[in-house]
This record gives sequence, C-alpha cells and structure tokens, in this order.
Amino acid sequence: MRKRILSGMRPSGKLHLGHYLGVLVNWKKLQEENESFYFVADWHALTTEYERTDVINESIDDMVIDWLAAGIDPGKATLFIQSHVPQHAELHLMLSMITPLSWLERNPTYKEQLREQTTRDLNTYGFLGYPVLQAADILMYDAALVPVGIDQVPHLELSREIARRFNFLYREVFAIPQAYLTETPKILGTDTRKMSKTYGNAILLSDTAAEVWAKVKPMVTDPARERRTDPGNPEICNVFAYHKIFSEEETVKRVDTGCRTAGIGCIECKKWMYENMEKVLAPIREKRKEIVESGVSVRGILAEGTARAREIAGNKMREVRDAVRI
Ligand code: TRP
Ligand code: SF4
Repeated sequence: MRKRILSGMRPSGKLHLGHYLGVLVNWKKLQEENESFYFVADWHALTTEYERTDVINESIDDMVIDWLAAGIDPGKATLFIQSHVPQHAELHLMLSMITPLSWLERNPTYKEQLREQTTRDLNTYGFLGYPVLQAADILMYDAALVPVGIDQVPHLELSREIARRFNFLYREVFAIPQAYLTETPKILGTDTRKMSKTYGNAILLSDTAAEVWAKVKPMVTDPARERRTDPGNPEICNVFAYHKIFSEEETVKRVDTGCRTAGIGCIECKKWMYENMEKVLAPIREKRKEIVESGVSVRGILAEGTARAREIAGNKMREVRDAVRI
C-alpha cells in the first residue's frame, strides 16, 4: 500500500556522505512506491541562523541540486520550501498551545545544543519550539513514515506525543508518524569527529575524485602501524570503519587480516576503500553534471511542489480548525 512519507532538511548548502547514507538513501528508496514529500526546512534554519539569514536562501539551490544528484526525483516526490507553505506556521501555533513546556525543556537535542552552541544565543522562544514546528511539518501531511537520521528520533517521539495529545483533546485528526532509519552505521568525519562541513572533515557529494582522495589519503590510521611491517588493529581505525560501509564483505575480511598481519600497507588499504567509495560518489557526480548541463530550474521544481503541498496543507488546516472549533 502507498504510504505518506515526509522529511525535511535544513538548508546548510552542499551535502556530505553523512546526509547521503543517513537520510537520502532512504528518501530515494521510499519515493518509489509511496507518496513522498521532501522539503527545505528554512524556518528551522532560522531558529539558529537568525543573525545571518542570507546563508539560508543561498544554501537552498546547492542542497536541492545535491538531492537531485543523489536520485531524488521530482517526478516521484513532491519537493517544496517550508516557509512557502504558511500553513506550517499556523499549525505550529495551534500545536504550541497544547504542548507542555516540560516536554520541550527535557528534549535532549535542545539541552545539548544550548550547551554546545556557544557562538550564538539560542535562548529564544523559537529555538525551544523547534520540535513543535517539526511536529507541524509531519502531522500536516499525515505522514506514516519519516526518514531521518538517528539524532532526530527524540524529535519524532515528541511529534507522536503531540499528535496523540491533539487527537485526545479534540478528535482523531492526525496520523501517528514513525521514524524510518538506515541500517548503515553512522559515518564519522575523516578526523573521527562528527562529519560536518564546519569541521572540514566532510566528504562532500560535490567533491571531485581528486578532492575525495586528498581527504582520504591523510586519514589517521592505527598509530601502532608506524612502519609497513608493524601489525595493526583495524577496529580502532576509521579507514576500516569506512571499509565496512563501502566495501564488500570479502574485502573487509581481507583488510582485517591484512592489517593484523601487516600483510597490507595503509595507503594500499585506503586506495581500496577510496575506490569503493567512488562507486557511490561517481554516479552522483555524473548525475549532477547532467542536471547542471540540462539547465533545470531548481526554483521551478520547488514552486511546483510547493503548490501541491499547499493544497494538502490547506485541507488539513480546515480539519484542524474544525476540530478545535476556531
Ligand atoms: N530537524 C530536522 C533536521 O535537523 C529537519 C526537519 C525539520 C525535519 N522538519 C522536519 C525532518 C520534519 C523530518 C520531518 O534534520
Ligand atoms: Fe587502518 Fe587499513 Fe592501515 Fe589497518 S591497514 S591501520 S585498517 S588503514
């Protein structure tokens, strides 16, 4: 049966392998047999970027071109911009009335970000309400599945609680959504921190083959392998973690043994990994080239999708107003 799928991404510009493996692979898979809605979460970006809003709009094209290059098909999925569907703001307001403060204050992502983001002041009303806006995004379309990265699971749980509370207070208006995660282990940055463009440790979907190799080549390996003849422990090596993601089981085994017995060198090992990583990246690169050369209008695609999204959102809001009697 066709299901409603919904997911969004904050416009942060060019995407990296973490976005691809964690989210886009599932977006692509789910668009085939379902009714998918994928959107640019520009209002969510505003919760943290309210002081430098230029980057939000400028990032949209880069990000959406990466979606298309990764195989997201506007003929199958509806792509739109959140802030161009004002009903999201209206539903956010409605849901904010019934969301207990304590649910938001104990949200782990919220607490973590307040602690970590020292360069901006996130003690705002909007930032606390981030998950309420996300609930509005999801509930608006009666999404059954929400393909997201594992870090978004607490937000999904909140969306479910908010939906249940609304349905209980008024009537059954909203479907209860479910998170949809990938089985691929989370890929770390090339320096083993969280993969992020700001750390400079990210492999971008738009990197050239030479750029990818320039990032892979200097990756830190097991420090015990000072010389080619020193045996190593692949379990503590990030290159091996990458092998597990990109290489066939046979290669992973060969690397495991080769590393422990000093049968292979680290550069050789990285080269194999790189070649397998390129099996994922090269087709994306090719597709991007096609897209750019065909002169397709990203804004045109988004405008078309936005019109479709607005229609559904308009209908849902009539239902919501009716249930709340307002
Ligand atoms: N919070 C999500 C993220 O940072 C983005 C997002 C906003 C989202 N609204 C959503 C994801 C609705 C899924 C569904 O990645
Ligand atoms: Fe890492 Fe491979 Fe070197 Fe072993 S051989 S330390 S797995 S790069």
